[in-house]
Amino acid sequence: MHSAVDVIRVKRDGGRLSDEQIDWVVDAYTRGQVADEQMAALAMAVLLRGMTPEETARWTAAMVASGEVLALGSVGRPTVDKHSTGGVGDKITLPLTPLVAACGAAVPQLSGRGLGHTGGTLDKLESIPGWRAQLSVAEVRAQLDEVGAVVCAATEGLAPADRKLYALRDVTGTVESIPLIASSIMSKKIAEGVQSLVLDVKCGSGAFMKDLDQARALATALVEIGSASGLRTSALITDMSVPLGRAVGNALEVAEAVDVLRGGGPPDVVELTLALAREMLDHAGLSEVDPAAALADGRAHDSWRRMIEAQGGDPAAELPRARHIDVITAPRAGVLTELDAFAVGIAAWRLGAGRARKEDDVDHAAGVLCLAKPGDSVAAGQPLLELHTDRPETVAAAREALQGAYEISDADRRSTPLILDRVAAKGEPS
Ligand code: URA
Repeated sequence: MHSAVDVIRVKRDGGRLSDEQIDWVVDAYTRGQVADEQMAALAMAVLLRGMTPEETARWTAAMVASGEVLALGSVGRPTVDKHSTGGVGDKITLPLTPLVAACGAAVPQLSGRGLGHTGGTLDKLESIPGWRAQLSVAEVRAQLDEVGAVVCAATEGLAPADRKLYALRDVTGTVESIPLIASSIMSKKIAEGVQSLVLDVKCGSGAFMKDLDQARALATALVEIGSASGLRTSALITDMSVPLGRAVGNALEVAEAVDVLRGGGPPDVVELTLALAREMLDHAGLSEVDPAAALADGRAHDSWRRMIEAQGGDPAAELPRARHIDVITAPRAGVLTELDAFAVGIAAWRLGAGRARKEDDVDHAAGVLCLAKPGDSVAAGQPLLELHTDRPETVAAAREALQGAYEISDADRRSTPLILDRVAAKGEPS
């Protein structure tokens, strides 16, 4: 007979939870038999004391077992997914999913909406007239068979224990625990039932993990859980101290993603899209396929059109445009050396691109266009940032977020690479 208080005491005192204790407490919490205040105390004990890799893997398995498993791995092609821990201007899912599908794998991207300063993939795609995020499991399977690429909302039945626990962590100061973040992310991915997974762990001001040591610890925890559950998993750790690409905000990011699919787009977005595509194709046993060729010859763009149309969207439709554009210009000539991702994310959010509460609507046209990126030379008075919104009254607050967020110097001091590290499963080449 288990008791929540006993389980809490074990972790409070720095002990190791047994498999039975973990299975019991996750299941009992999901069914409402362990109270929110008890789970909150346990989450805080985990945050302060940590969990071993074995405890974390078991905790994840218990959260997977709390709901349905989709077994998407059973479609005709190798299945592979990508998950990013979230950043500013991170629209990589949009070009990456159809690109990897065009190269022969099946990519089910069960995605979420944005909360706070990082955007959500579904919000971005909903800028496209007619596009539908909600699909049944049968529709996901059919689209995977026919197109090879799906981006849609996760079904309610996936890892319900995580849904409940994440909401509780959000209001109890227990989000920032590596075992809890890692098990939360991986429970949803394992429940999709894909064969392999590539993680993009963001590092820097615009990310959860602000420094490289923290990012490595999270990447290692994620890869260990994947390996423990038989999922081929690896992680790239990538820079999020500056926004990715030039566009931050839903429709602006879709337009930039389409530029990439047409063979153009900002170099950092292209670099990361190709690096993640190569990693995914390698896991899928398709390492001989060159994703750069599929971008250049239009196959990836074709696959995008089919993916959008399959979900009711019109890939040729005009995207929403903001009625008001405010321009921030360079105060002096020189080289742009800083452009803080977090500040740009907050500015885009204040302009209407993000939501403060789950129930809020987003303004699809709102956001920030970064006309210069670190390393670019600028003349005095040259436009640096465009603030797009339908609500001009939000501009003052967005400008305030951007104060001190960029720096112009006499010489370029910034040379952070985009891909900072790679974490592979034990026994795999790194
Ligand atoms: N994303 C998740 O899905 N879970 C976390 O705990 C943090 C980020």
